Amino acid sequence: MSIRRLPSELINRIAAGEVVERPASALKELVENALDAGAANVAIRLSAGGLDLVEVSDDGSGMEPSEMGLALERHATSKLPTDAIESVTSFGFRGEALPSIASVSRLTLESRPRGADGWRIAVDHGERAGEGPAALPRGTRVRVEGLFDKVPARRKFLRTARSEYAACLDAVKRLAMARPDVGFSLDHDGRRALAVQPSDAPTRVAALLDRELERHGLGIDCVRDGLRLSGVISLPTFNRGMADHQYLFVNRRPVKDRLLVGSLRAAYRDLLARDRHPIAALFVEVPTSEVDVNVHPAKTEVRFRDPAAVRGLIVGGLRAALEEAGHRSAAREQFAAAVNWQAEPVAAPGAPAESWNPGQLITPAPALAGVMDGTLDFAHQPAARAEPATAPVPAYPLGVARGQVAATYIVAEAEDGLVIVDQHAAHERLVLERMRKAANGGEVRRQALLIPDVVELDEPDCDRLDGAAEELASLGLEIERFGPTAMLVRATPAALGKTDIPGLLRDIAAELAELGASLALRERLDHVAATMACHGSVRAGRILSVAEMNALLREMEVTPHSGQCNHGRPTWVKLAHADIEKLFGRR
Ligand SMILES: Nc1ncnc2c1ncn2[C@@H]1O[C@H](COP(=O)(O)OP(=O)(O)OP(=O)(O)O)[C@@H](O)[C@H]1O
Ligand SMILES: [Mg+2]
Repeated sequence: MSIRRLPSELINRIAAGEVVERPASALKELVENALDAGAANVAIRLSAGGLDLVEVSDDGSGMEPSEMGLALERHATSKLPTDAIESVTSFGFRGEALPSIASVSRLTLESRPRGADGWRIAVDHGERAGEGPAALPRGTRVRVEGLFDKVPARRKFLRTARSEYAACLDAVKRLAMARPDVGFSLDHDGRRALAVQPSDAPTRVAALLDRELERHGLGIDCVRDGLRLSGVISLPTFNRGMADHQYLFVNRRPVKDRLLVGSLRAAYRDLLARDRHPIAALFVEVPTSEVDVNVHPAKTEVRFRDPAAVRGLIVGGLRAALEEAGHRSAAREQFAAAVNWQAEPVAAPGAPAESWNPGQLITPAPALAGVMDGTLDFAHQPAARAEPATAPVPAYPLGVARGQVAATYIVAEAEDGLVIVDQHAAHERLVLERMRKAANGGEVRRQALLIPDVVELDEPDCDRLDGAAEELASLGLEIERFGPTAMLVRATPAALGKTDIPGLLRDIAAELAELGASLALRERLDHVAATMACHGSVRAGRILSVAEMNALLREMEVTPHSGQCNHGRPTWVKLAHADIEKLFGRR
């Protein structure tokens, strides 16, 4: 065995393996450098999702030519003037990003400090490839071309330009939320994809997060034991099929930390189905002595000295805000019939109301019109709620509807007992089974929209929907691309009745993103059908007429899997006569 010291070029490539996974990670490093250099504006240009070109220009401090040379060397950093890594507040500190990126691409570094001329150094896969004067305004410009072109092992793992672009956009959004005081612009293949001016944190988050959150969000601002939590979260009713719109920050550093993600999840426990996810932008502020940022090469994870305190802060803070909101929304449901209610702003307990007020809390009115295909007609608002128990009971397995409890459960009398049905869960299953039948070659009934609906979405989301347009049409959803960031909806599946079309599209896009291209078409269709079914269902809280209740029961009896909702919970339970007798001690 002979041990050798590795040449620096190889060391750099090994480091690149950890730090630069894909164009988005190179982009993240470059933008972080620009921010660390005190930039007020960061301009980003990408080609082919960053596969061909990633370029970041800033108006920060710039570097002298000799510093530029050092910057490209491994373990050279200006960010640890003392050795106190515990108290680092800059994004970078490892002195690895530039040499790592330069070892797996063609990199050009141009820089100009105040009162001096510009200089340029080119590096080709770790080898110096020339230098000379450069003309540029004060600041720094880094251009990365042909990333991984000569690293086939890495190249193989890259996805399409589209998905690489989606990852780049996500990385920029996260950093732009972390630094609202800095202006950002992003051009992709010559087209402006994002531009934000310097602003305060709530304005920045509102500009980058789902626009709907203005109506369906809750501001958060609380302090506990020297820790602060601020930001905005979605009401449980405004959720996504994927946990991709969760932006978490520790001391303004974007992280994807498991402790934080887990705490967010825990705060929504029993308010959301297991496969649904809240939207959130949350900023945790802790003393630097309480957190170690040096635990992950890309610095996307951190370690807290007292994880329980952080978890407590998040779960406690969010829970309190959600409970408050839940209370209000429940109270408001009763007035849902009054169409023009006034929304009032909501602030979390202890929150300075003006700091995080993403808009107003509005609970959507229960869906009233579920126009079904003949069997069930939910088009009108019924008045009756109960049936006198005098009629004889025919031999239906799920019995005859006798009434509704809590506007959520149907109570029916069967020959052998009492049946309680969860109307939402049951109906969701019926819609799903109907959609499945259509997907399996049955008749597809669509409902054409008189005026096509235009739905604005992220570009990556539009790409996904566009790519699946044929599949979706086979389920009755007819959509078309309408510019880079919008879709045109011409028809929806009749089985869904009247539905929230933007919400439907958002969820399907999220579903498609999660499924990727890995699943067979059939399975994809099935997943999408389930997502759609969720949107077509009679809500809990909706008052049903006796005729509607009976129609639902009859359809359940002839529909496969109707005993279980799409999330695996039962749709109905039966108390046999014998069980009732036991309850009353008659047995
Ligand atoms: N845009 C920039 N403007 C001014 N100086 C820069 C810029 N980018 C890099 N530098 C200088 O180059 C050095 C090396 O950058 P590099 O990203 O490799 O390491 P780092 O940021 O110090 O640490 P890390 O590897 O954790 O990112 C930085 O410390 C900084 O001094
Ligand atoms: Mg850096």
